[in-house]
Amino acid sequence: MSDKLIIFDTTLRDGEQSPGASMTKDEKVRIAKVLEKMKVDVIEAGFAIASPGDFEAVQAVANAVKDSTICSLARALDKDIDRAGEALKNTNSARIHTFIATSDIHMKMKLNMTPDQVVDQAVRAVKRARKYTDNIEFSPEDAGRSDEDFLCRIIEATIDAGATTINIPDTVGYNIPHQFGATIKSLIEQIPNSDKVIFSAHCHNDLGLAVANSLSAVLNGARQVECTINGLGERAGNTSLEELVMAVRTRQDVFDCDTNINTTHILAASRLVSSVTGFIVQPNKAIVGANAFAHEAGIHQDGVLKHRETYEIMRAEDVGWNANKLVLGKHSGRNAFKVRLAELGVEFDSEESLNDTFKRFKELADKKHEIFDEDLQALVSETQTEATELIKLVSLKVCTETGEENTATVVLSIDDKEKIATAKTSGAVDATFSAINSLVDFELNLQLYSVSNVTQGTDALGEVSVRLEHNGRIINGQGVDTDIITASAKAYIHGLNKIMAATDRAHPQV
Ligand code: KIV
Ligand code: ZN
Repeated sequence: MSDKLIIFDTTLRDGEQSPGASMTKDEKVRIAKVLEKMKVDVIEAGFAIASPGDFEAVQAVANAVKDSTICSLARALDKDIDRAGEALKNTNSARIHTFIATSDIHMKMKLNMTPDQVVDQAVRAVKRARKYTDNIEFSPEDAGRSDEDFLCRIIEATIDAGATTINIPDTVGYNIPHQFGATIKSLIEQIPNSDKVIFSAHCHNDLGLAVANSLSAVLNGARQVECTINGLGERAGNTSLEELVMAVRTRQDVFDCDTNINTTHILAASRLVSSVTGFIVQPNKAIVGANAFAHEAGIHQDGVLKHRETYEIMRAEDVGWNANKLVLGKHSGRNAFKVRLAELGVEFDSEESLNDTFKRFKELADKKHEIFDEDLQALVSETQTEATELIKLVSLKVCTETGEENTATVVLSIDDKEKIATAKTSGAVDATFSAINSLVDFELNLQLYSVSNVTQGTDALGEVSVRLEHNGRIINGQGVDTDIITASAKAYIHGLNKIMAATDRAHPQV
């Protein structure tokens, strides 16, 4: 029997550190539930001490999820560990993940500490974390650029102090596969008590090598990989869960381990993370990109039709693709709607939320006759997000005429009071955003605006993403509608709501 490879998902923590990708508590819970369905072993729900909102989000994920271990990140500081322990208090299975930097450059320039002080602080943190749970992960941050002898020393000491998982981060994405694998092997061989813990890899993708480095770590003895859906994460991102899991599953001739992941939920998770964060998945992205299983060249199509393995190494349905199946239409009933969404992993926490989404589905079915899974997922995302928002779009009227200025009249509900504004500029989207701006007292800088279609055809739902900056904080907003100006207004309002809800939060690594 092959070994188990533990999947530690950090979409909600390291993924969320990506500028613009911050998530609300409810969004985190929705993603965590899909990860649980997928049978992710450990979900890193956040950095509890970052802000009261982050603390509540870790708590909410811990309350909502029963089958995965829930983890909170904590610097090697008493106050961080206590906050993480507190947030995880009522969790079925809790882990505290504590870390301190170990590379010369980080110890000198960031921490201003000597190596001896760093070892003492790491040991103290692990011991303190043991007061809350016996499932403790320790990470020597920037291990990928740390001195190996020092790594051996600090890891041995933290295992003695009670760490149960030792995570080796390539924090800046500097490593090369054969070298990263050799480091893992050498640490396991040299550290006398290494057999008491699971070794883990945590790779960043600055050189495009995060998945390759993680796989190399697995080949050299790591039995946990830290990853994110769609490879989300700071800068170039983290190891992509879907790529890592499918590489190990597809190449069982090479790997003597496998994960427990139910891969059929991968696509749903990818779409949810993309729609919550506004980080669009590139069409040629492995596993989850729109072209990942598409064949165009005649010769490939011919081969696939004769015998699919000629050009396909994985089955699209194994990762959740179902050939863009037409699922529901105008005459579909509430029950069929609910059943299909349950198959897609969507649950409703109240009858009211089900009814609201069903009403929107009927409205959409009047405008667009063929409703696909992607449409349903977009509708659910929008309904669940809007339910918690302070500012809502009530109506929008836009007049455009070739050669003339465009006029937009917007009615917003702000804290349950309706307000109206009109703006006239050269573009319809610009006029809409100006009208919204005039109703709120916020200095916003639009950094990015993009439109894509959720499915094919001119009657498809348009999905708009905006990136807004306010006082140095970057937030993404998303909106969907069959009308792209309305989708744009929804995206802008979504971003605005997020900015208003955002509070100051500490970054764990700065
Ligand atoms: O990249 C990194 O070093 C991290 C640590 C906090 C594990 O995310
Ligand atoms: Zn990281």
